[in-house]
Amino acid sequence: MKVLVTGGLGFIGSHTVVELQNKGFEVVIIDNLSNSSIDVIEGITKITNKRPAFEKLDLRDKQSTDQFFEKHKDITGVIHFAASKAVGESVKEPLMYYENNINTLVYMLQNLCQLDNKNFIFSSSCTVYGQADKLPVTESAPVKPAESPYGNTKQIGEEIIRDTCKVNKDLNAIALRYFNPIGAHPTSDIGELPIGVPQNLVPYITQTGIGMRDQLSVFGDDYPTEDGTCIRDYIHVVDLAKAHVIALERLIENKSDSNYEVFNLGTGKGSSVLEVIQSFEKVSGQKLNYKIVDRREGDVIAAYADTTHANKVLGWKTESTLDDAMASAWNWEKKIRKK
Ligand code: WQD
Repeated sequence: MKVLVTGGLGFIGSHTVVELQNKGFEVVIIDNLSNSSIDVIEGITKITNKRPAFEKLDLRDKQSTDQFFEKHKDITGVIHFAASKAVGESVKEPLMYYENNINTLVYMLQNLCQLDNKNFIFSSSCTVYGQADKLPVTESAPVKPAESPYGNTKQIGEEIIRDTCKVNKDLNAIALRYFNPIGAHPTSDIGELPIGVPQNLVPYITQTGIGMRDQLSVFGDDYPTEDGTCIRDYIHVVDLAKAHVIALERLIENKSDSNYEVFNLGTGKGSSVLEVIQSFEKVSGQKLNYKIVDRREGDVIAAYADTTHANKVLGWKTESTLDDAMASAWNWEKKIRKK
C-alpha cells in the first residue's frame, strides 16, 4: 500500500517513514527541504534497506500539488507533517505561517477527497491546549486561545479537518497531538537536524554538551513546580513514529465509528527542565554548563498527557524512558559532529 508522507525528511516525518517501511508500506515523500536535508533519505535507506520515493515539492504551489495527485491516484493514505513549527518565528512571521500551514492543508484535503482511499493523519500539537486547567491533559480538555500563530495554525487545521469530515463521510482522519518529541533513531542514522540556533531544549542541551554552544540558558526557575522549572512530557520520537503507523492502520481498516478522532501522544509523565539536564548528565557522564535566566514569554508552566485514550483505542503506549531518549539524542549529536 502506498502512503504519502509530507515533510517526510523532517525530524518526526523521517522516523515515521522508517516505521512505515518496516511495516511493509510503500512510501512516497514530499518535502521542500526548507527545514531538512536530502541526505536524510540515505539514513532512512540505510536503516530499512528500502529507498523511499521522493519528490521535492512546495505544497504552497497548488498547481504542483494537484499535478502530484494526478500522478499518484493509488495513494492509500496521507500523513501530513509538512508545516513550519517554530513558535517564536511564527510570532514574527504570522502570514508565512498561515500560508505554509493552512493553505497547504486545504490543497492536501482538496486532492485527498478526489481519491478512492481518503485516509488522513494530521500532525497536531499539545500547544492547542495552552496551559491546561487540569493535568494530565485529556483530549477533552478545552482548546484555548492560541498563544502563537503556530499554535493557532494547529487549532485551525484541526477545525478544517473536522468540518471537512462532517461533509465527506468517506474521509477518515485522525489528529495526533504531540507533546514534546525528542531523541533520535537508535542507529543514529537519522535524528533531529535543527537549522541555526535550536529553539527547543534537548537539541540545545546536546549542542552544549558537544561544545557547539557555550552554555544552556534555563528559562526561569521561579515557576510553581517542585524545582521551579517548567514541566513537559518528553516523548521518544520513535515511539511517536510508531503511533502514526498504528493510527494509519486504524483508518485503513476503518475501525472507528467516527471518521474524525483526536489522540494525545505523550508518555503520561512530566519532567522538569532540571530533570532533563540531570538525565543528560547521567547518560553522557558529563556535567552540563547552564545558567538560570528570565522566563521565556509564552511558556506554559506544565503540560503532560493523559495517555488513556491512545493506550485503550490505539493499543499504543510509549516504550522508551527519558534516559533512553536523551541517550539517543546524545549519540546522534556525537555522530553528526564527527563528520
Ligand atoms: C521545553 C522547556 C522551555 C530551550 C515547543 C512547541 C511545541 C513543539 C515542541 C512543534 C520549556 C525550556 C527551552 C532552552 C529552556 N513544537 N527551555 N532553554 O516550548 O514545550 O514546545 O516545541 O511541534 O508545539 O510549543 O518546547 O523544547 O522549546 O521547551 O529552558 O534553551 O524547556 O522554557 O520550559 P516547548 P521547548
